[in-house]
Amino acid sequence: MESETRYIGGWSFQPNRFFFSYPVIPAESHPPSKMKASLMLLLAPLVSAAPTVEHRQASQSIDALFKAKGKEFYGTATDQGRLQAGRNAAIIEANFGQVTPENSMKWESLNPRQGQYNWGQADYLVNWATERNKTIRGHTFVWHSQLAGWVNQINNRDQLTRVIQEHIRTVGGRYKGKIYHWDVINEMFNEDGSLRNSVFSRVLGESFVKIAFDAARETDPSAKLYINDYNLDQPNYAKVTRGMVANVNKWLSQGIPIDGIGTQGHLQSGQGNGLAQTIKVLAATSVKEVAVTELDIQNNNSNDYVAVTRGCLEEPKCRAITVWGVRDQDSWRPQGNPLLFDSNYNAKANYNAIVQLLSQ
Ligand code: XIL
Repeated sequence: MESETRYIGGWSFQPNRFFFSYPVIPAESHPPSKMKASLMLLLAPLVSAAPTVEHRQASQSIDALFKAKGKEFYGTATDQGRLQAGRNAAIIEANFGQVTPENSMKWESLNPRQGQYNWGQADYLVNWATERNKTIRGHTFVWHSQLAGWVNQINNRDQLTRVIQEHIRTVGGRYKGKIYHWDVINEMFNEDGSLRNSVFSRVLGESFVKIAFDAARETDPSAKLYINDYNLDQPNYAKVTRGMVANVNKWLSQGIPIDGIGTQGHLQSGQGNGLAQTIKVLAATSVKEVAVTELDIQNNNSNDYVAVTRGCLEEPKCRAITVWGVRDQDSWRPQGNPLLFDSNYNAKANYNAIVQLLSQ
């Protein structure tokens, strides 16, 4: 985890781990309290007595508006616990076209012990989305964080290769044809663009990239395969230029089947334009497409949401945006109220600013 403050372009920010250290308490550990549940019951008649609110939200779906501009989806992150709580499912149905499992498809969730798979929550998400015609981004096959402990202990090349291949074949195979994008590799670069120290890089060097992408392509040939990372928010930042751009071009020239670059987009207020410019830099690689995969912006800065959305609109290779959650209070970094809906499930100024941009 990076905790030092970094200075880029004249102003300061900390990489996206400033408020939390892993592991963050998973969403499932926060069941709605009895107080909240009874408050929701009291408010239920008010909510159902106001169908026009739902209608307004549905008719102003940022997903529908984004698609009308030629893009593929405006989505969000969620999971079973959220989908079964409050109005999350209704909001997602009305306003978003895609879901990413916030935690349920991570290695430690799906495959905590060798040979043991827990499918319940991931299956729920996939079924929920499939039944409602929502696109799914699979997240994520190979990541140093939220990784099963048993994988971290492997120190043999052949064994780790087989374990990666088997994990991808098992998970990718189960959901074959249902997952539109897979984040095949997540967060593999250091801030200076070098390879992050992880069990994967220690045991396999950078060959784990080819191992993982080849296995994903063989398993589900129709899925678009993404490499995803954070702090890709400044066009001249080393992690962008020396890290993602240089390496993806190299790996593509070697025939590694990378279809897309994902920039997570966990932003500070004021970084929207930087991300918009970085989208262009990522799109200038030989990769086919780019997506903003985990957008959240601290301190309610609608201008930043507009800048990022416009940045994606203006770059033909940018195909989609996913925000990292529905309500501020459910965000993994809730202090900065970074999302599009407030605690009463009302669309915030951030949401309305996106609607306004996309309605022009
Ligand atoms: C976060 C989730 O939102 C939290 O619920 C969890 O406790 C920790 O992980 N980069 C990623 C996401 O790729 O998977 C992370 O999601 C946020 C940072």
